[in-house]
Amino acid sequence: MNILDSELVQEQLQALGYQFTSIAADADVVLLNTCSVRQLAEQKVWSQLGRLAIEKRENNNDLVVGVLGCMAEREGAELVKRMPHIDVLCGPSELDKLPGLLQNAMQNRQRQVALSGHTSRRSATLEKAEDGVEALDLSRSFSATRSSKQAYVRITRGCNKFCTYCVVPYTRGPEVHRPPLAIVQEVRSLVEQGVLEVTLLGQTVNHYVFQDGGKTTSFADLLAMIHDQVPDLQRLRFLTSYPRDFDDATLDVMAASPRMCKYLHIPAQSGSNEMLRKMNRGYTVETYFGLIERARMRMPDIRFAGDIIVGFPGETDADHEATRLLIQKVRYKSCYIFKYSPRSGTVADRRFVDDVPDDVKKARNRDLLDLQNGIALEIHSAMIGQEIDVIVEGFSPLRVHRPQPGEVQLGWEKRSAESTSHVRLMGRTQGDEIIAFEGSGDLVGKLVTVKVTEATQLSMRGQMVP
Ligand code: 5AD
Ligand code: SF4
Repeated sequence: MNILDSELVQEQLQALGYQFTSIAADADVVLLNTCSVRQLAEQKVWSQLGRLAIEKRENNNDLVVGVLGCMAEREGAELVKRMPHIDVLCGPSELDKLPGLLQNAMQNRQRQVALSGHTSRRSATLEKAEDGVEALDLSRSFSATRSSKQAYVRITRGCNKFCTYCVVPYTRGPEVHRPPLAIVQEVRSLVEQGVLEVTLLGQTVNHYVFQDGGKTTSFADLLAMIHDQVPDLQRLRFLTSYPRDFDDATLDVMAASPRMCKYLHIPAQSGSNEMLRKMNRGYTVETYFGLIERARMRMPDIRFAGDIIVGFPGETDADHEATRLLIQKVRYKSCYIFKYSPRSGTVADRRFVDDVPDDVKKARNRDLLDLQNGIALEIHSAMIGQEIDVIVEGFSPLRVHRPQPGEVQLGWEKRSAESTSHVRLMGRTQGDEIIAFEGSGDLVGKLVTVKVTEATQLSMRGQMVP
């Protein structure tokens, strides 16, 4: 969601004549788009802001510093108290206002603030969110030179689930769904610009539902609409699914639509019913397995990805063992494993003691990573010999050239335009696996067939099928 927000902000500002630079010292404006989901993410922003304070004081008094996203929304007052050099604060639901804020900050040299206050005024902000929900997504500017063949399209903002550990409902506010026609139109425009793969985004994406007069569009309806009404779209996927309320109709549309990726990112968070209850996840391990079964019955080759939190308050060795069993049973193709990070303002932080020691969290994290790596290797190894469709995304990092002192390093994208000779390419399968293979540089952005020859935990290697 943050990658999309950053892209939309960049497109919006570029359309107004702003230019982007990768050299921070050249910039007149520095914007940090922030994440609050774990403490580590916030720590990185605090240290970047510290560096920017020095830069502003010592080298560039006129530098405009903006903090965007969830940390602005959650920590706004604290941020400006500790970092008075911040000129712009803009919450994730207010990003359409950023151009005006920047303009004012530069002209008046006064701090500009746009926050939604989701935390304190839920009902008031819901109305406001509905008014403004389309603003940023609709302002998406379409450029003829779009280089990436992959695009994100938001279908839902916010989240109503209030999992006890999570800040998202407080930072991104209540769930609001975009009208289906606007979504289909956005996908169509992206495809007209050469996009091959679209990923629909929502915090609980399968909860999508849109009421218009007497007509209801469900998530399954929306998927079918996009798939059928944009026939040149090569791949359609969606993130992130919520394990409850995932209906058979959606699975049936996935199974029946050849250009829909047979892929679900569906975080379980834990394999212990007691932990799930304390997390307020609203489902049991049994319901979760039921969904995995229903999906596998219809799509035997489906790939699952997941998220797990280790060391949630009160998590015992038996709870951890239950999570191990879940991972073994589901056989994720990839699974993100996070150590529980208490977040102020959340129910878990108020109600439970963060009582699992850090070394235990670390050991459980390592244990699940090792388990998951073994499963990923088995999944990848089982694909050796298969011929698969791959979208070529760029050049394989295996060939990253280490620059000598004094040598200027070109980005991969840049070299791709220059080189059409045989190089090592990197692509992605519809199940979201990564594969490296030799091919001509001008294949970047194209759909090709590759035969899998080797497998590792993280990726595969292969040969192009002529
Ligand atoms: N601590 C650790 N992990 C968290 N996540 C969300 N909040 C926390 C937290 N407080 C994880 C969940 C979620 C992913 C985006 O981040 O696994 O699915
Ligand atoms: Fe956070 Fe739960 Fe909403 Fe996901 S579903 S964004 S974990 S509150």
